[in-house]
Amino acid sequence: MGIFKKKQAAESVDFTALPEHIAIILDGNGRWAKRRGMPRTAGHAVGSENFRKIATYCNDIGIKYLTVYAFSTENWKRPDDEVSTIMSLLEKYIIEAIDEVRKKNLRLCFWGSRAGLSEHIKKLMDESEKESRDMTGMQVNVCLNYGSRNEIKEAVSKIARDVSADKIKPEEISEDMIDSYLYSAGTPAPDLLIRPGGEKRLSNFLLWQLAYSEMVFTDKLWPEFDERELDRAIIEFQKRNRRYGGI
Ligand code: FPP
Repeated sequence: MGIFKKKQAAESVDFTALPEHIAIILDGNGRWAKRRGMPRTAGHAVGSENFRKIATYCNDIGIKYLTVYAFSTENWKRPDDEVSTIMSLLEKYIIEAIDEVRKKNLRLCFWGSRAGLSEHIKKLMDESEKESRDMTGMQVNVCLNYGSRNEIKEAVSKIARDVSADKIKPEEISEDMIDSYLYSAGTPAPDLLIRPGGEKRLSNFLLWQLAYSEMVFTDKLWPEFDERELDRAIIEFQKRNRRYGGI
C-alpha cells in the first residue's frame, strides 16, 4: 500500500432493488423552527413543502407506495393555533395535490378516522381519493387523524359485527382477513420505515403493518431530510438481510 489511503467507493442506491413501500414518520418540524428562532408552525410549513419534494423524488425513482404519518389521534393535544396551522397546510396540500395526481398519475389515499375533522377537509379528502382511485402510479397514503391502536380496535369491532350478522364465522378469521379490515387494506406492508428527528419509537404508527419492516432512524430533523438522506436510508435498507422469522 502506498502512502495514500485506498479511496472508499461511494455507496449508491441499487435502483433495481428498491423497497416497494416506504413509510415515514414526519418528526422534528417544531425543533427545526425553534432552533432558528421561528414559531413551530413555520417548521410545519417547511416540513409540508419537504414532503412534497421527497414524494416527488420517490415517484421519480420508482417507489410504488409512500405512507406518511402527518397527524396522529394524539396530536389534537397540541395548542389550537398549531393544530389549525397543520390542518390548513393539509388542506393546501390536498388542493394542490389534486392537480399533481392528474399530471403524475398518482393515487392519493387517507388513512385514519374522519371523526373530528372539518367538513371542508373531509370533502377534499373524499374528492381527491375519488379523483385518483384508478391512477396506476405511486400511491401516497396520508395518515391523518391516525392511530394504529384505534385502527386495530375499529377492525376488531367490524369483524365482531360481521360475525354477529353471520357474514363470517369465527374460525374463518385469518391474518389476511384482519388485513382486509384495516385502513391499509389492499396495500402491501411497508418494506422500510424511516423516522427522522432522533426519536426511536413507533408512536402508534402502523403497529400491525410494520411487523417485518426494516427501520431506519436518523437524527436529521424532517425539514432538513433531503433526497440524499432518503438515498442513505435506502442504502441502509439494501444492506439488511430480511428473514421474516426464517434463517
Ligand atoms: C412532527 O413534527 C410533525 C407533525 C406532527 C405535523 C406534520 C404535518 C404537516 C407538516 C402538515 C402537512 C403534511 C403533509 C403530509 C403535506 P413535530 O412538531 O413533532 O416536531 P418536534 O418533535 O420537533 O416538536
